[in-house]
Amino acid sequence: MEITHFSFLSFCTVVLFSFVPVTSASLSFNFYAASCPSAELMVANTVRSASSVDPTIPGKLLRLLFHDCFVEGCDASVLLEGNATERSDPANRSLGGFSVINSAKRVLEIFCPETVSCADIVALAARDAVAIAGGPLVQIPTGRRDGMVSLVGNVRPNIVDTSFSIDEMIKIFSSKGLSQEDLVTLSGAHTIGLAHCSSFSGRFQEDSKGKRSLVDSSLDSIYANELMKKCPHGASPSITVNNDPETSATFDNQYYRNLINHKGLFQSDSILLADDRTRKQVEDFANDQQLFFQSWSQSFLKLTILGVKTDELGEIRKSCSVNNG
Ligand code: HEM
Repeated sequence: MEITHFSFLSFCTVVLFSFVPVTSASLSFNFYAASCPSAELMVANTVRSASSVDPTIPGKLLRLLFHDCFVEGCDASVLLEGNATERSDPANRSLGGFSVINSAKRVLEIFCPETVSCADIVALAARDAVAIAGGPLVQIPTGRRDGMVSLVGNVRPNIVDTSFSIDEMIKIFSSKGLSQEDLVTLSGAHTIGLAHCSSFSGRFQEDSKGKRSLVDSSLDSIYANELMKKCPHGASPSITVNNDPETSATFDNQYYRNLINHKGLFQSDSILLADDRTRKQVEDFANDQQLFFQSWSQSFLKLTILGVKTDELGEIRKSCSVNNG
């Protein structure tokens, strides 16, 4: 593993990165130092200005990375438009942040044409989104290349659904080289962002008159009533609620406190408190934000380098939504 530009890396990050498997030797920290020295700054500025106009952007960018990296690796396959690409899967229809990635790419194509990959922009933008929301700024390596394959059929087998059991979630994470601890840590992403009513409607049941009641006893009843009010019968499919009912715009450890208070929005969140294998980590993070941030920095780094394509395995797209062809 070749790592360059050690100067601004912490020792711990170097050690961690050295042990994380990467498919090729050509990812490195500040990969664009010679070819496009301001690349990271340009992405950060684009994310910052978009987020100042629209505060929902950080959540969208963070989820976009997750859905990119879990399907075909972190290769911007999620950005490709067309018939039966990953974007057509229902799990991806509520993704957002594409316009921010495209804006960053447009700026980069002016200053550094055909140099910076869309896959790197997605990873850097998610990293910056977390920092802008108050979370840790994680140094990540760059040099990912853009994939040429994006198939709707690859989404379902690789993306976790809110109805999954803890075993099913652990299994998918483990198939990516991510541990049970990474699952608990990365689920902390739900400390920011939004969810559509349909994504947690399974926690309620509806009688023939459209009256809804809680079927999921693991949810706090007052919180459940608030959710039902926000998502009434026949509500517009565009209605959203905050993932974190307390500090929705801030990347903090409130997600874990919410879990302890039985206010995890998705069943897949609540389960992390309910299961003996994951409860202790939830409690530790709820009590210690620094511990969560340290763990986040490590797990996030692992997420950003899943199945990356380098060298001839990928390309540098000119436009993020289409292959160069
Ligand atoms: C572990 C299993 C996970 C499940 C089942 C899950 C599921 C979901 C669902 C259903 C939504 C709501 C989508 C919508 O209705 O628009 C959501 C939102 C979100 N998820 Fe996850 N997620 C998981 C893990 C992750 C991970 C690992 C990350 C990132 C590291 C992440 C980041 C986000 C973010 C930031 C949002 C808010 C998106 C926005 O504001 O538009 N999630 N997730």
